[in-house]
Amino acid sequence: MELEQAIHSRRAVREYTEEAVEEGTLRKLIEAAIQAPSAINEQPWSFTVVTDRELLARISAQTKTYLQRSTPGRIIPESLHARLEDSQFNIFHGAPALIVIASVTRSRWAAENCALAAENLMLAACGEGLGTCWIGLAQTWLATTAGRRTLGLPAGSLPVAPIIVGRPAALPAPVPRKEPRIRWLGP
Ligand SMILES: Cc1cc2nc3c(=O)[nH]c(=O)nc-3n(C[C@H](O)[C@H](O)[C@H](O)COP(=O)(O)O)c2cc1C
Repeated sequence: MELEQAIHSRRAVREYTEEAVEEGTLRKLIEAAIQAPSAINEQPWSFTVVTDRELLARISAQTKTYLQRSTPGRIIPESLHARLEDSQFNIFHGAPALIVIASVTRSRWAAENCALAAENLMLAACGEGLGTCWIGLAQTWLATTAGRRTLGLPAGSLPVAPIIVGRPAALPAPVPRKEPRIRWLGP
């Protein structure tokens, strides 16, 4: 797939088939992710791949409980609170794989570095005919001691980008973009 086509056709996919994604394919996505630029070429990212469905369900349940208890109406919009109370709602949308991109250091550019790796990964997945979605909802719980322990992440690391991956069961319609706010400062 051409780069431009991938950039324009990538969508946040929230419906997946049961089909597992092969390890080789997941490795290929990670290989694309690590081609991202990083501040002072630190390459501080680590990739935790979760394909254990029970574990995914457990992380989803723990995250929902955590969010309900810790962020009353502030960080999470009111509309999402109803979903968090829905026992059927899985924050990972039933995807067969989750790749958590974490920074091994809490350096000034930890988030930027991992976000760039995440976009590479999502575009590469799109090129493979796979769907992805960044699950920001998972970030806060994964960053707790319990969350980091569950992923086997060392204390100093910072989970930045939880990305689900799988075969799309349905392709979402394009989400309209706002006009870019452009300011030209030139002659
Ligand atoms: C930082 C970040 C956090 C996000 N968190 C979630 C999330 O928790 N759950 C979800 O379903 N989608 C999440 N998304 C996906 C966005 O909702 C989606 O990218 C946006 O609506 C635009 O749609 P598109 O990606 O199809 O263009 C997140 C995206 C980003 C970049």
